[in-house]
Amino acid sequence: MSGGPAGLEQWLARRYEVDAALLLDSGTSALRLAVESLATATAPAVRVALPAYACYDLATAAAGAGAEVSFYDVDPATLGPDWASLSAALSAGAVAVVLVHQYGIPVDLDRARALCDAHGAAVIEDAAQGAGAWWRHRRLGARGDLGILSFGRGKGMTAGGGGALLATGPRGRDLLDAFRSRVARGGPGIGSWIRLVAQALLSHPMVYGIPAGMPWLGLGETPYHEPWLPRAIDAAEAGVIQSAADLADREADIRRDAAARLGLVLRDHAGVSPVRAPAGDGIRPGWLRYPVLLDAQDRLRIGTAPLGRLGIVAGYPLPLARLPQLRAAGIGDWPGATRLAKELVTLPTHHWVSDRDRAAMGRLLSR
Ligand SMILES: Cc1ncc(COP(=O)(O)O)c(C=O)c1O
Repeated sequence: MSGGPAGLEQWLARRYEVDAALLLDSGTSALRLAVESLATATAPAVRVALPAYACYDLATAAAGAGAEVSFYDVDPATLGPDWASLSAALSAGAVAVVLVHQYGIPVDLDRARALCDAHGAAVIEDAAQGAGAWWRHRRLGARGDLGILSFGRGKGMTAGGGGALLATGPRGRDLLDAFRSRVARGGPGIGSWIRLVAQALLSHPMVYGIPAGMPWLGLGETPYHEPWLPRAIDAAEAGVIQSAADLADREADIRRDAAARLGLVLRDHAGVSPVRAPAGDGIRPGWLRYPVLLDAQDRLRIGTAPLGRLGIVAGYPLPLARLPQLRAAGIGDWPGATRLAKELVTLPTHHWVSDRDRAAMGRLLSR
């Protein structure tokens, strides 16, 4: 084990094969600082392109950074960028693009990088949902100009809270040093311990129904949060990161196996279209959950309660581009994101889910 957070940051940088890492209170704070770092004296408001369908914390981070947000559409078949739409956002002047590996399914980083390079835009690789996942033999989060990790609840590498900003090259290292001297100290993190224990207890299928009845835990919710000032990681979270990392790799193997089994169970199901993950040398999706498009009529027919009993949950209810807090920036047409808000549901892939549970999911989703 390394000593204090400085040693821990070096360990994290080695694990991700990047030059520097900065441990923060959350992935949201890491993303906010990543966007802020691209501001210049002549352009203090960074024009950043976000996916039109993604976790609402992206909006919090962009608002906290004082960025000008534009959106690119998301391809429902892959959950990656709609390439024509991303290209349009870059042509319209975005100087940075946030790429999100949704549910640990890697975005095609080769194609995204080529497109961003052609426009001189920075790549911020948001791997908050990408624990244990790889793109061409590198961990997700390691290939952007800046990378984002989250150690929050339900993220595959959970320390009860916390996040990290990763950077490569001398400029990235200097940047992180400057932030390190600027962010406020972290607290002891008692709340994180409570969340960590609660999550471990409540992740069992027998108690799936409970978290919805305990709103104070905030499990399974995706509300919009107002921005806050980034601070360093709490001590309790920092203390468990290395063990969480080992667990995350083992759990990711289990999730990949679960995803393959779900693929077989759902094969040939009319009205259910699994999201396609890229395949190739050194590409390993993390399958934090198993996303499928479920025909809106079928969703209505099944109802939410039976889905919930098997741990099947709906995706984000509104496209990010249609969040009321971002309305001014969200003008546009986002057919992919709009379809995802209506049709995306995700199935659990964690180690508690048995073949029997998967067979029950198959029966429930079949017409
Ligand atoms: C894609 C993505 N980015 C960033 C975040 C923010 O991470 P955190 O919860 O650690 O603030 C999340 C959280 O759900 C996320 O899903």
